[in-house]
Amino acid sequence: MVNINWKDLEKFGGESSIAEKERYKVLRTKLLIGHSEKKVFAVTSSLAGEGKTTIALNLARAFKAAGKEVLIMDASLRKHDFKELFIKPAPGLGEFLQDGLPIEDLIVKGELGNPDLLVNYQGTDNSTELLENNKFFELVEKLKESYQIIIIDTPALADCVDSVVIAKASDGVIMVVEENRVRGEQAFADIAFLEETKTPVLGIVLNKIKA
Ligand SMILES: Nc1ncnc2c1ncn2[C@@H]1O[C@H](COP(=O)(O)OP(=O)(O)O)[C@@H](O)[C@H]1O
Ligand SMILES: [Mg+2]
Repeated sequence: MVNINWKDLEKFGGESSIAEKERYKVLRTKLLIGHSEKKVFAVTSSLAGEGKTTIALNLARAFKAAGKEVLIMDASLRKHDFKELFIKPAPGLGEFLQDGLPIEDLIVKGELGNPDLLVNYQGTDNSTELLENNKFFELVEKLKESYQIIIIDTPALADCVDSVVIAKASDGVIMVVEENRVRGEQAFADIAFLEETKTPVLGIVLNKIKA
């Protein structure tokens, strides 16, 4: 069984100010009103550290606060973003894809206003092949039966092509862009690549804006 330190997870998502919480509500409302038929949202970016995990987690919490059944899936299979939160090592998405462990045993029920979590523990080099496998696509389809909203946290496009594969399995993509960091041409090239999947890039979240 996976043990999560929920108090630390709260810190990991950032101490959201009231103004920040409002911005997540705006994003949630845009997705609910403009794209009510969509359930699965991949959160990605060009570079590591632009804020994908932070935004994925806070957006998932905003949906949860609106009374939705929400799952956040850590699909950064090469590293393990939520690792420091484990009280003891536990298997997750990578192990489901690689070793066929039953998914019911791997999902952790959310506490303290958090969504349910499907973490990833073991870093793996063959992440792209694991995700390209039908098993991943079938998993997302199956989870849609249990959840109203699924947020998938992904690796950066500069690191690997995995988020394009994940976009293919999703209903929409949210692109996080850190202000004054990634070059415009790079971000647009990455968006064009994501759009080749035919999954729409629904919006760009400009993050870490300096006041
Ligand atoms: N809007 C923000 N303001 C300040 N710090 C942020 C913001 N978004 C993310 N961070 C911080 O930036 C770092 C990288 O964020 P993270 O969400 O882990 O990025 P990624 O998942 O894209 O690699 C973390 O320390 C996080 O707390
Ligand atoms: Mg991350």
